[in-house]
Amino acid sequence: MWSSSAVAPNTAVLLTLSLLQLAGGSSDVNSGISNYSFPDDFIFGVSTAAFQIEGGWNEGGKGESIWDTYLHEHPTVTKDHSNGDVAADSYHHYMEDIEMIKKLGVQGYRMSISWTRILPNGTDNNINQEGVKYYRTIFEELVKANITPVVTLYHWDMPTPFMNLGGWTNAKVVDYFEDYARLAFNLYGDLVKMWLTLNEPHFHCFSVYETDVLAPAFNAPGLGVYLCTHNSLLAHARVYRMYEKEFKPDQKGKVSIVLDASMGLPKDPNKPEDVEAAENYLQMNLGMFAHPIYSEEGDYPRVVREKVNNMSRLQGYSRSRLPYFTDEEVTALRGSADFFGLNHYTSELLSPSVMEPNWKVPSLAQDTGVKMETDPSWPMPGADWLYVYPPGIRKLVNWLQNNYKILKKIPIIITENGLTDFGGTKDYDRVDYYNDYLYQLLLAIHEDGCNVKGYFCWSLMDDMEWGDGYTIKFGLYSVDFNSPNRTRTPKLSAYNYANIVRTRRIDFDYIKRSEGLNTTALK
Ligand SMILES: *[C@@H]1O[C@H](CO)[C@@H](O)[C@H](O)[C@H]1NC(C)=O
Ligand SMILES: *[C@@H]1O[C@H](CO)[C@@H](O)[C@H](O)[C@H]1NC(C)=O
Ligand SMILES: *[C@@H]1O[C@H](CO)[C@@H](O)[C@H](O)[C@H]1NC(C)=O
Ligand SMILES: *[C@@H]1O[C@H](CO)[C@@H](O)[C@H](O)[C@H]1NC(C)=O
Ligand SMILES: *[C@@H]1O[C@H](CO)[C@@H](O)[C@H](O)[C@H]1NC(C)=O
Repeated sequence: MWSSSAVAPNTAVLLTLSLLQLAGGSSDVNSGISNYSFPDDFIFGVSTAAFQIEGGWNEGGKGESIWDTYLHEHPTVTKDHSNGDVAADSYHHYMEDIEMIKKLGVQGYRMSISWTRILPNGTDNNINQEGVKYYRTIFEELVKANITPVVTLYHWDMPTPFMNLGGWTNAKVVDYFEDYARLAFNLYGDLVKMWLTLNEPHFHCFSVYETDVLAPAFNAPGLGVYLCTHNSLLAHARVYRMYEKEFKPDQKGKVSIVLDASMGLPKDPNKPEDVEAAENYLQMNLGMFAHPIYSEEGDYPRVVREKVNNMSRLQGYSRSRLPYFTDEEVTALRGSADFFGLNHYTSELLSPSVMEPNWKVPSLAQDTGVKMETDPSWPMPGADWLYVYPPGIRKLVNWLQNNYKILKKIPIIITENGLTDFGGTKDYDRVDYYNDYLYQLLLAIHEDGCNVKGYFCWSLMDDMEWGDGYTIKFGLYSVDFNSPNRTRTPKLSAYNYANIVRTRRIDFDYIKRSEGLNTTALK
């Protein structure tokens, strides 16, 4: 198990492996206060995204994103037939949000700008000053409170006019994204020093173009997913290089991208074919995005290139379904990140397969050729995809560290991690999840020497969870979606996280299942 990286197993790796297996990561094992602490330069934060919390979908001059348009046209797409028109109404309650962030004591707040709030048509011929001011006020308040804004430019809310032209599958949309990014750097670069170009291009391209469940359900498997991947990467590189040339000398900020990954583990660690399947899974779902940016040689990983080329040829295509980068593009992408933003939630068990009943032809799943399963012993307290396996995060950051040497110089920042449940403020499962995942990160930092320098919880508060609507909850704060005030209340996990942030250690006994709530911490 461990990582099936190119590094040959040696005794040191095997020793780490057995230690890992002992450190199972469940709260039954851990009690007391963690002996390791988070280093002084480690930043804690919380994350949100514009569409999921803001609401105010047509207020203050905002234009429509595809999530507005698609959910209005297809109200039954979300599980509870909801949309993001009001969401947590952060458009009106942002000062409360900032108070909540202050109470947690965190150093960072990751949020996103809604492209169509500042550019209602997506294009820079029409700048919406009311929207410009909205974000300016938030950034000013955060900086005043000594909270670093970490700002995502694109968190899935593609302007509707561009989605009508194909969204990221249209290479020209990259030009308009660059215009939008330049405007954002001009408007806010004095206050914002940490930028993220795109959120989770892997999951975004997969869910928009490969499946038919998320807006706008393009359903172009095996083809759209790679066009989206390719143009998303080019959009990132374009904006990184533009900032580097036009803004970095004055503004001195950092720019990166957020990549998402589940940890891939062999179903049977003793079977070499399962070990290979896990590696293939990681390369096809994470390496495809990380290798062009973080590897020394750049471009797509060789196994990714070969797999898609081979399958395309077999299927009678005269060109690969995965486009090629030019040499200039490979160079622009290589090294185009000042840190590694990683979203991680869960893990998968993998074994080779030629075909599964739910795979389409062609598709990324078929190109990958691995069957995904989960371990029945992994708990699943909320959404039917989020299985709790805390050691996965330690293995994943080790996989990155082993694959990309540059991560000795630039740090990994966990930009999202968290657990779903179905609501309530006594969220013991979430408390355990954060304790156990953060403990595994402490082990990765102190025992494996991984260069992890930050951690952002998903999420600050309950929100609009895309296709799941409001049926599942991710927040440290609950939001009463039945109240016009969208009243926010801290959950046990908020108190627990505030304690971790304050002490820089994990106290596994801070919140006990049998005990009531000690509300001193957030007052
Ligand atoms: C801290 O170290 C002590 C002594 O080695 C050990 O008994 C205890 O379990 C450790 N605590 C945690 C939370 O790792
Ligand atoms: C922006 O889009 C709106 C709504 O479609 C339209 O009425 C308006 O004319 C557009 N403005 C510009 C400057 O393109
Ligand atoms: C692709 O096909 C070539 C030629 O058949 C083969 O040598 C290679 O192993 C294949 N690569 C992968 C990743 O399947
Ligand atoms: C909403 O907030 C207002 C102002 O604080 C308050 O007067 C009102 O009672 C609240 N309404 C609800 C339903 O909580
Ligand atoms: C509640 O938490 C505060 C601050 O963390 C602590 O000082 C206090 O002792 C706790 N009270 C109880 C009853 O545990």
